[in-house]
Amino acid sequence: MSRDHGFHPVRITRIVDETPDVRTFTLDTEFPYRAGQFMTFRVRGTLRSYSMSSCPDTDGELRVTVKRVPGGLVSGWMHEQLRPGDVLEATRPSGSFCLREDAGGRPLVAYAGGSGITPVFSLVKSALATTGRPVRLLTAHRSAADAIFSGELDALAAGRPGRLRLHHHLDDRDGLVDAASVLELAGGPADFYLCGPEPFMALVEETLSAHGVAEERIFVERFTPSNGTAPAPAARPAEGTVTVVLRGQRRSVPQRSGETLLQSARRAGFTPPFSCESGDCATCMARLTAGEAKMRVNNALDADEVAEGHVLTCQAEPSTTDVTVEYED
Ligand SMILES: Cc1cc2nc3c(=O)[nH]c(=O)nc-3n(C[C@H](O)[C@H](O)[C@H](O)COP(=O)(O)OP(=O)(O)OC[C@H]3O[C@@H](n4cnc5c(N)ncnc54)[C@H](O)[C@@H]3O)c2cc1C
Ligand code: FES
Repeated sequence: MSRDHGFHPVRITRIVDETPDVRTFTLDTEFPYRAGQFMTFRVRGTLRSYSMSSCPDTDGELRVTVKRVPGGLVSGWMHEQLRPGDVLEATRPSGSFCLREDAGGRPLVAYAGGSGITPVFSLVKSALATTGRPVRLLTAHRSAADAIFSGELDALAAGRPGRLRLHHHLDDRDGLVDAASVLELAGGPADFYLCGPEPFMALVEETLSAHGVAEERIFVERFTPSNGTAPAPAARPAEGTVTVVLRGQRRSVPQRSGETLLQSARRAGFTPPFSCESGDCATCMARLTAGEAKMRVNNALDADEVAEGHVLTCQAEPSTTDVTVEYED
């Protein structure tokens, strides 16, 4: 049976202010999930993903934590409009920013900037509750008033002496996070988890790589696509066409090598659905009705769906001269 990528009604039972611009929404749902995963919400036709700050191993309720982005369409609407009792549309939880089965006793070292603490908080709670792994966490926030979950994290550390080493970094007190603070927690072999604003993630990734940490031990969750919504910079004209069918309209553009079907659809003038742009959520799913395409990453479609011709358009590049991709309404 294919995975369920559909949207389902979920009722909000509680709303809690974490900081002046961050709110946690408790949802009345029995959806199973893993620490570090997210749900995709459909708000007035716009799709956005939010990670669970709750942990299935320690928390009875499912909670998502949303930072209000200045000028942000969905986060602004959720902060202004949502009240307990309201019903939202959401997908079942998905995502692969999770603890690895093969981690054994390897330490978990996490770096979380701003709202990036949301999935990391869930991972930290899970690792502490279900493993004996040492956990080290650097959180970075602008000021103490913005430090989401700092009280809960301090309580976790105090309740498990020696298990959780915390470093709370505050920009207004400590300046911006630098390589030295990243390395202070790095130590020897470990699994490294990163989530936060793009410059913060770039610094942590570069510092860890220069420190000799293997790429496969660094796990990253990006809240914004690393390449934005622009066409692929390496895209060059290639032979053939990409035809896109969306909401009853059909448009063709010349193929460009290195360009995903999602990028081709945008170049054709469409605003196709997407959320994570990393192959995890299936929001961008469509069906190939002519030609073939190869996905760089697929953490969202099962073998049956792929056999039926479904692709993650954010990951699929044409592998035949002419390709037609149809989005389902
Ligand atoms: C897997 C995943 C998990 C996530 N988890 C969380 C989470 O747990 N918590 C959380 O708070 N967020 C999370 N996010 C981010 C979240 O999905 C949204 O991206 C975020 O809330 C902003 O959405 P928005 O609709 O409010 O803002 P948008 O309307 O998308 O705007 C975002 C920003 O871009 C600017 N902007 C918008 N359009 C343009 C434009 N055309 N040109 C220039 N600037 C523009 C806006 O002014 C604003 O500053 C996650 C994202 C992903 C992919
Ligand atoms: S946008 Fe999430 S898998 Fe493509």
